[in-house]
Amino acid sequence: MRRILGIESSCDETAAAIVDSGRHILAQRIASQDEEHRPYGGVVPEIAARAHAERLTPLIGATLNDAGMTLDDVDAIAATAGPGLIGGVMVGLVTAKALAMASDKPLIAINHLEGHALSPRLADPTLAFPYALLLVSGGHCQLLRVDGVGRYRRFATTIDDALGEAFDKTAKILGLGYPGGPQVEKLALEGNAEAVRLPRPLVGSGEPHFSFAGLKSAVLRAKEGGQFTDADIAASFQKAARECVIDRSRIALEAMEDSGGGITALVAAGGVAANAVLRGALEELAEERGLRFVAPPSPLCTDNAAMIAWAGLERFETGQSDPLDISARPRWPLDPEAEPVRGAGVKA
Ligand SMILES: Nc1ncnc2c1ncn2[C@@H]1O[C@H](COP(=O)(O)OP(=O)(O)OP(=O)(O)O)[C@@H](O)[C@H]1O
Ligand SMILES: [Mg+2]
Repeated sequence: MRRILGIESSCDETAAAIVDSGRHILAQRIASQDEEHRPYGGVVPEIAARAHAERLTPLIGATLNDAGMTLDDVDAIAATAGPGLIGGVMVGLVTAKALAMASDKPLIAINHLEGHALSPRLADPTLAFPYALLLVSGGHCQLLRVDGVGRYRRFATTIDDALGEAFDKTAKILGLGYPGGPQVEKLALEGNAEAVRLPRPLVGSGEPHFSFAGLKSAVLRAKEGGQFTDADIAASFQKAARECVIDRSRIALEAMEDSGGGITALVAAGGVAANAVLRGALEELAEERGLRFVAPPSPLCTDNAAMIAWAGLERFETGQSDPLDISARPRWPLDPEAEPVRGAGVKA
């Protein structure tokens, strides 16, 4: 049984976990920085980097302790090496390098997005390659074909905001706390999703991309108009977002099916995949297309180190490791061959 220590520090969660090749999470700890960033309604990079630097080393010690292990008991050390807020990524990667050097264990530099992309395989041993992956997080909204470890082909991406960003901005407009996604979902339960007419950007377009900036602006106008309750705005926003995701994903899945078969599952990962309404709609879409729907349990969707340890394990099993001089990368697309799409500020 191989065991990997995983470290995650790309955004505002400081996390460590130990995962074994039997898909057991032997220990995991997450220190959230929500309190530090809440007054600003979003993550402040400098505050995040300092918080990671303070917390990471004791957190790793406590995680090993929880598992009743020392560094001698792990086979390799995996850490997020990008993409993300570079200060935080550097804290995690440099810590992993130091531990790898001190313990003479291999270092595995993980693309955070690959962590999300492979996390469903940690939760579901029956999920085989290839699969269609909807990656919906704070920084990304993409539909990819996952053919294997390190083999990703992007079919759709957002031309402006990520879906998690749209949830967070809606939360901010409605005066809800940070992070906003779970709070918008909760408030939406009390609202009428038909109350506010909101746009569905790009819906009906034959091009398989996503767009959420116009939806966010419409939420702001609805709030400023003063005639709707916050719960109605939240519910209407969530419904519009869901319809955008489903319509765009359907087009992307069609393009994917046209480009070669073999896909048996639609998989959702990333923080927004924790949203129950979205999960339900994706399940229906999967059924419509004759696919199985797979999504990891919510705690594995939002940032965590178990997914980094698991991605490390998948790489380790194929004999991969990285040199100690590997650099942290603020940007690191899963599919570097993907063509750029129109729109400014496109992420990966
Ligand atoms: N229940 C939910 N409904 C909607 N959105 C949610 C829910 N739970 C979390 N989110 C959103 O998920 C995002 C966080 O996800 P995640 O931690 O994967 O993103 P990230 O790491 O910041 O971005 P990336 O992975 O792209 O670098 C936030 O935008 C948050 O609001
Ligand atoms: Mg993430």
